[in-house]
Amino acid sequence: MNPASLIPVAEPLPIPWGWFDILLVLTFAVHILFMNALLGSAAIGLLRAMKGDAGLARDVGDKAPPLLALTINFGVAPLLFLQVLYGHFDYVSSVLMGGWWLAVIPVLMVAYYGYYAAKFGWESMGAGKRNLLLAVALSCLLYTGFMLTNNMTLMLLPEAWTEYFTASGGFLNLSDPTLLPRYLHFMVGALAVGGLFIALLGRSKERDDYVATGMTWFTRATMVNLLVGFWFLLSLPRPILLLFMGGSQPATMVLLASLIGAGMAIVAGLRKDPVKSALWAVLTVLFMSLTRNWLRAFYLAPWFTAESTPVTSQYSSFYLFLGFLVGGLGLMGYMMKLYLRSRERRA
Ligand code: HEM
Repeated sequence: MNPASLIPVAEPLPIPWGWFDILLVLTFAVHILFMNALLGSAAIGLLRAMKGDAGLARDVGDKAPPLLALTINFGVAPLLFLQVLYGHFDYVSSVLMGGWWLAVIPVLMVAYYGYYAAKFGWESMGAGKRNLLLAVALSCLLYTGFMLTNNMTLMLLPEAWTEYFTASGGFLNLSDPTLLPRYLHFMVGALAVGGLFIALLGRSKERDDYVATGMTWFTRATMVNLLVGFWFLLSLPRPILLLFMGGSQPATMVLLASLIGAGMAIVAGLRKDPVKSALWAVLTVLFMSLTRNWLRAFYLAPWFTAESTPVTSQYSSFYLFLGFLVGGLGLMGYMMKLYLRSRERRA
């Protein structure tokens, strides 16, 4: 069977591709930064709690419900842009994963409930029960991340979709050699940024021990992630690997910029400077998100290119979107102002 026959026809775009692509990369980077702060700090806090020191787990646990809400909300935005640009790949892979994919919703609800229950029942729960609850919530996040990596890789491989005809239910992309290094690359990155989040929290709470612990996690995890990143790079199909090794100038440049960013982040981390580390970390995540965007385009090139998508040049909905975006941001700024003012008054 020719896998191309399984790819639905691309829907026309109302405005040129680039607009959606920029928004996809930007919102994805924000999503990943929030996810990292949540998952990484929750994992580090839990490890500490299991060694008998629950203070850090309590402080990061307080931030977990809002961080989870922000991760999910900033996940919706790239999901919408992804569906506009790559819906004919991503919808198919989502459907093929079946129950594995659908389970993400109840699993995330368990994570939410777990973090809320731990936050509000902290004093009344024993350490054992509390750690178990935090471990269940963390496993739910790890599951969700794994499903996303499965979906994001399966959508790139129409030749793997034919498994549908022999599999008895939904299936995962387990035979893809890039799956594990790609997933680990995101998870080790989460430990690094989670550490940085703890250091920044320590800075605002004037807790030097948090700054020291957080910066150590940030620096070491980023060093390990350089190795995991190379493993991921080497696991790519050879023609794509060569494109990142000079075959495509822009792709090679963004990968190089990401590596320089990671190097600078490690230097700032070794100097125990959370603010500079945060700046380099954000830049690195942005460049890595761009690199990942190139990777997707290279994988899909045999089946589909951005230029082949018809554009209808109907700008009215785009202007409406921009209007709501600016209006929404203004309203959010106003709400933040009211909130901060009321906090000052209470203090
Ligand atoms: C809170 C738990 C979550 C975790 C740990 C998580 C983790 C991840 C990871 C690791 C990736 C990258 C996958 C890869 O490329 O291999 C990813 C991508 C993505 N996530 Fe999340 N995610 C979470 C929740 C969500 C939710 C609830 C949504 C949607 C409502 C979402 C939407 C997305 C989208 C659309 C992408 C891909 C964007 C793109 O391809 O440019 N995520 N997420």
